[in-house]
Amino acid sequence: MFADLEKLAPDPILGVTIAFRADPTPNKVDLGVGVYRDARGQTPIPAAVREAEGAVLSGQTSKTYVGPLGNAEFNQRIAELALGPLMARLRERLATIQTVGGCGALRLGAEILKATRKDPVVHVSTPTWANHEPLLGSSGLALQRYPYYDAAAHRLELERMLDALRSIPPGNVVLLHGCCHNPTGADLAPAEWEQVAELLQRRSLTPFVDLAYQGLGDDLERDAAGLRIIAARVPEMLLAISCSKNFGLYRERVGALTVLAESPAAAAAVSSHQARIARRIYSMPPDHGAAIAAHVLGDTKLRQAWEIELAGMSARIAALRNLLADGLTQRRPELDVSWLREQKGMFSLLGIDAARLETLRERHHVYTPPDSRINVAGVSQANVDYVADSIAPLLS
Ligand code: LMR
Repeated sequence: MFADLEKLAPDPILGVTIAFRADPTPNKVDLGVGVYRDARGQTPIPAAVREAEGAVLSGQTSKTYVGPLGNAEFNQRIAELALGPLMARLRERLATIQTVGGCGALRLGAEILKATRKDPVVHVSTPTWANHEPLLGSSGLALQRYPYYDAAAHRLELERMLDALRSIPPGNVVLLHGCCHNPTGADLAPAEWEQVAELLQRRSLTPFVDLAYQGLGDDLERDAAGLRIIAARVPEMLLAISCSKNFGLYRERVGALTVLAESPAAAAAVSSHQARIARRIYSMPPDHGAAIAAHVLGDTKLRQAWEIELAGMSARIAALRNLLADGLTQRRPELDVSWLREQKGMFSLLGIDAARLETLRERHHVYTPPDSRINVAGVSQANVDYVADSIAPLLS
């Protein structure tokens, strides 16, 4: 049965990690997968998360099933973290399910759309995260694209984006990155979110917001400002939340899908569909990571400690952006790399073509995905000169 199967090409992002790990060169640099790294190049477990994990384990009296919707306290607290003060107003119209990471939330959202709408079409930005198309497309949704980023200018193309949104037929879904756009780092400013929200509302388009980096751009509140602007206006919305990066819970696969429905009755119906879809695919999510995140969010002291640590992570990323930009400017003073300083979160696109990226990997052992996205957190004081030396000649 499997004799004629062809081996697939490696995943564009996870394949970078595999290639990097197999490279014996000591001074190799991994600018691939989006994980935070500290000054030693490690991806730490925040101290508050570690402490919460201990408390969860010692307080646990049973491992009996929870249920397809997952950990109710987690669902409540994580939706609150995203929606902030809006929660009080929207609570009755929300249906949240704990998911297997942010990917699970996106996929479950796709399944909800398929189960509840006829021939749903989802519009994604150009470019978008390399896994959006496979995740959403393989559930059978039709995907289209809207312009978002001028790669040559390294800038957001707001007018072209708005023009495209104006021509999308009512009832279609628009996927937006809540903050720290992946792969460009180019985010909408609050006034621009207002324009997008107004258009979505006027044209009866359904927003599907992917929130994978809350707290790693500006801060927890400002990173959620855009989605809150939208949620305050539209009747329906989907929100995919990941706890991988901000809680450092990557491998525990913690996420949630929150759906805003038009009425409490519609929210209850959505919740029943969420539970049924989960039951049919994997039955229930694992509890461990969600219990940890819920504990951090529910404990005043741990929450404060986590917020401080997270603020330190985002400050470090912003500092690394400047460090790398300084290094590039020293080597290529004629280039304007202000975009690298201004963009948010871990990612920016270098705008280097695949052939030159190949050279970068072979000659300098600097690893990036094929779209020339870099994870800025992979840069450090120790490697910045090497990275800048390797990259600067390739920039245009
Ligand atoms: C990334 O974009 O590198 C991360 O979101 C990890 C992943 O699953 O691709």
